Amino acid sequence: MNRINILDSQNFTNQEYYVDLIKAENDRFETLTGKKKSYLITTFGCQMNEHDSENLSGIMQDMGYIEADSQEEADIIVYNTCAVRENAEDRFFGNIGALKNLKKQNPDKILATCGCMMQQDEVVDEILAKYRHVDLIFGTHNIYKFPELLYTYISQEDKKTVSDVWKIDGDVIEGLPSIRRYDFKSFVNIMYGCNNFCTYCIVPYTRGRERSRLPKDIIKEIELLAKSGVKEITLLGQNVNSYGNNFEEKYTFPMLLKDIDKIDGIQRVRFMTSHPKDISIELIDSFVELNKLCESLHLPVQSGSNSILQKMNRNYTRQDYLKKIEAIKSKVPDIALTTDIIVGFPGETDQDFKDTLDLVKQVEYDLAFTFLYSPRPGTKAAVMTDQVPEEVKKERFNQLLETVNEIAARKNKAYLGKIEEVLVEGLSKNNDQILSGRNRKNKLINFAGDKSKIGQIVNVKITATKSFSLDGVEVD
Ligand code: 5AD
Ligand code: SF4
Repeated sequence: MNRINILDSQNFTNQEYYVDLIKAENDRFETLTGKKKSYLITTFGCQMNEHDSENLSGIMQDMGYIEADSQEEADIIVYNTCAVRENAEDRFFGNIGALKNLKKQNPDKILATCGCMMQQDEVVDEILAKYRHVDLIFGTHNIYKFPELLYTYISQEDKKTVSDVWKIDGDVIEGLPSIRRYDFKSFVNIMYGCNNFCTYCIVPYTRGRERSRLPKDIIKEIELLAKSGVKEITLLGQNVNSYGNNFEEKYTFPMLLKDIDKIDGIQRVRFMTSHPKDISIELIDSFVELNKLCESLHLPVQSGSNSILQKMNRNYTRQDYLKKIEAIKSKVPDIALTTDIIVGFPGETDQDFKDTLDLVKQVEYDLAFTFLYSPRPGTKAAVMTDQVPEEVKKERFNQLLETVNEIAARKNKAYLGKIEEVLVEGLSKNNDQILSGRNRKNKLINFAGDKSKIGQIVNVKITATKSFSLDGVEVD
């Protein structure tokens, strides 16, 4: 774990008053009991949420809390939620329902819920009506206000639920503390929100309109990360290609990449997510020109059928997409391509689905994240009348998965015998004698080695390949 504070914070400073008050209270508790108060955050959803949780951890630790090992132990339990698909929502309600007893046994335990789901009125209403053991509710725009909200809750006599969800976009908040999961790699937000309103997607409603962070703030954060030993950064935004659109002076995403490439100590730069409609020649050229930019691109296609793409409001055709893929492959032939695909969007016919399968075969993705279409209340697609029956969706989903996995396995076979540069991330999930890490193309690679290599970049010769990972041995 590593922490970072961006020093010239403007906006977080007014929270420091509450941070100090709570910290003093926690210090007093520690003097009396010899114990520190603790917190545990459970995060659902995307990297954006994970990064928000890193900020929340930083805030918690500033207030004197330490991370707990379990919910039973934790004084504050936080659920950072995702609203993109229904199953994440169901899991969330299941989880907080199960905490009712824990709260009954220990009424001093504080249960907080935040993130995208809280931006939906129906969700907050349901929590307030049926999950009354939740103490604190806040949204995606006011995470930085957590100290004030917590203080408001703690200082009440009758411990009523404190709920504060902002409907309007927040400003871009600089200066949040952050506790990162890894010492050697980090996410960096470059923009918030989304203006695209794809008809299936809840994100524009939960994360608001596009706002870009200033280049100087991003560069300063990355310089600090590099000084603290970070080698790899992943730039985050819902649509990084429209970075800077709200600036008066022209400063584009490729320009940002160029400036980041100059930062000493950073060895790898990744980014996500790109919208296919906005991929520019300049961006494609960045892969050729910039040494640190890794040869992997996540380019969500969502569907291979023009009529579905139109109903999704994606603003590109299958032909536009394939043209961009060709342009990328011709300039960066060994690039690893990944994508997101939704199966069973309203009105999807057998032919539409076949078009998707056909596109997948044509592009030959290294990996594709496949999703069953899930109607999100409040989006345009949710009220479309031609919803696809569940069994049809599932059958198509399985067929797609089979195709995707077959291609992924075939693409991975090409690595056999090659020597790959691996940034070692930790022990393998399945075997603690094995190290695991990623090459520049973001392939997961497992090999036997010493724990001391974690955080280093080593050469690994690939000796076996699977659909989702490669095995190898370390070489000089
Ligand atoms: N149903 C299914 N998948 C969805 N995604 C976004 N909204 C939905 C939805 N309503 C998928 C898209 C997106 C990814 C992050 O989640 O493929 O790219
Ligand atoms: Fe959702 Fe589309 Fe915005 Fe991506 S680009 S966050 S899918 S609305």
